[in-house]
Amino acid sequence: MNRRHTLTLAAALCAAIAAWPAAAQQQQKLKIGLMLPFTGTFAALGNAIENGFKLYVQESGGKIGGREIEYFRVDDESDPSKATDNIGKLINRDKVDVVVGTVHSGVVMAMAKAARDTNTLLIIPNAGANAVTGAMCAPNIFRTSFSNWQPSYAAGVVAAERGHKKAVSITWKYAAGDEAAAAFKEGFTKGGGTIVKELNLPFPGVEFQALLTEIASLKPDATFAFFAGGGAVKFVKDYAATGLMKSAPLYGPGFLTDGTLEAQGESAQGLLTTLHYADDLPNAKDKTFRLSYAKAYKLQPDVYAAQGYDAAQLLAAGLSGVKGDSSKRAEMIKAMEAAKIDSPRGAFALSKSHNPVQDIYLRKVEGGANKYQKVAVKGLADPATGCKM
Ligand code: BEZ
Repeated sequence: MNRRHTLTLAAALCAAIAAWPAAAQQQQKLKIGLMLPFTGTFAALGNAIENGFKLYVQESGGKIGGREIEYFRVDDESDPSKATDNIGKLINRDKVDVVVGTVHSGVVMAMAKAARDTNTLLIIPNAGANAVTGAMCAPNIFRTSFSNWQPSYAAGVVAAERGHKKAVSITWKYAAGDEAAAAFKEGFTKGGGTIVKELNLPFPGVEFQALLTEIASLKPDATFAFFAGGGAVKFVKDYAATGLMKSAPLYGPGFLTDGTLEAQGESAQGLLTTLHYADDLPNAKDKTFRLSYAKAYKLQPDVYAAQGYDAAQLLAAGLSGVKGDSSKRAEMIKAMEAAKIDSPRGAFALSKSHNPVQDIYLRKVEGGANKYQKVAVKGLADPATGCKM
């Protein structure tokens, strides 16, 4: 072998050694931590998110960005006091590449702190806490759902447009409830309405009777409510039973009637809510999504399923941008920031603070569906107060 050949061989060897970590990484399974509520009042929401996420993976041949997947599941029980320990299990024990979660705003605040402290990639498929794409925003934190401000602000705009003047709000007392009530107030007062009382009860309580009696005595001409999952089922039934629906129609973000209609039955008929999803959207993507979801799970999808599906789509966009090499974090983040997500809700892009910029729809409950009425607010971006990125 002459000297020229020896040099060429050495160069090829060096290139192969340099490429080895990336190639090896691409062959390793991608570790995904799913931190969601699988028990308690939000259990159905956690299950729908997991179903939606896995549906996208299944449609992509069981892989994301060319990588096979290994899942690690933690039931966060919607309990903020356990959240730091729970996400710690995924980050420190399981050494996941990405955490997908969660539903509850109080839990997600602890998750966002842990993700920031450890530079773990976090994709939020529901929890709306304004701060995680506001003052706590970070390059490694993304959300595929909504901020608490978005759908409830739109509910306020709609209630004012429909001529209501005097409203009461009622919510669970925690970040999501407080932020939803404040957003409704903003939209409603801008349109000339007044909030006469802000009522609440501890999460996940369902003892509504005394508060409903108070609403009746206040005689508002509309009521705004933020509840979801099992709590929403009970609240809508109890509200309907008071007979207040006519004199004080109920408004709320669509969590009040999403994934809950079968259990709410007659009591939810005619309810108007605002959300970035509806059950009969006029887009082709939603039609195929709903068919495949129903086929895979023998269930109708809801907003939570769509948000889980989109979390997987966003992760896939990031990984495709780095050919599956998740160690190229900065490039992966750029690809996620630039992604246009072909969502069942309608295509959307992310704001600078990594929250969807999206149309908020007005929906009406008819039979077993939240039927699309119109776009309530177009291309709504969260104000992202305090985000410096
Ligand atoms: C939240 O805690 O952010 C939340 C929970 C359920 C539905 C919507 C928001």
